[in-house]
Amino acid sequence: PQITVVNSSGEEKSVEAELGRTLMETIRDNGFDELLALCGGCCSCATCHVHIDPAYLDKLPEMSEDESDLLDSSDARNETSRLSCQVPVTDALDGLKVTIVSED
Ligand code: FES
Repeated sequence: PQITVVNSSGEEKSVEAELGRTLMETIRDNGFDELLALCGGCCSCATCHVHIDPAYLDKLPEMSEDESDLLDSSDARNETSRLSCQVPVTDALDGLKVTIVSED
């Protein structure tokens, strides 16, 4: 699936996402170092915070309590927030636009 990543300066890049990986890995693999993902995908750091195109929110797996608790630590949390390491790449994500949230 093809997804568009938007960085915190508003620059967009269209990338080919690989099935079986996570959205976090996809963003990192395409050179977006600003997505820190410090814990490496263990759902314990909240530095992989992204905003998801609202049209795609119901195509994602439901948020766990842990993910929700971590997102609460961010001032930038809104109804489109997810931790990208908790989002698997599926064909349903084709056309998704995802925005990296910078915490400062
Ligand atoms: Fe740490 Fe996603 S990479 S919570």
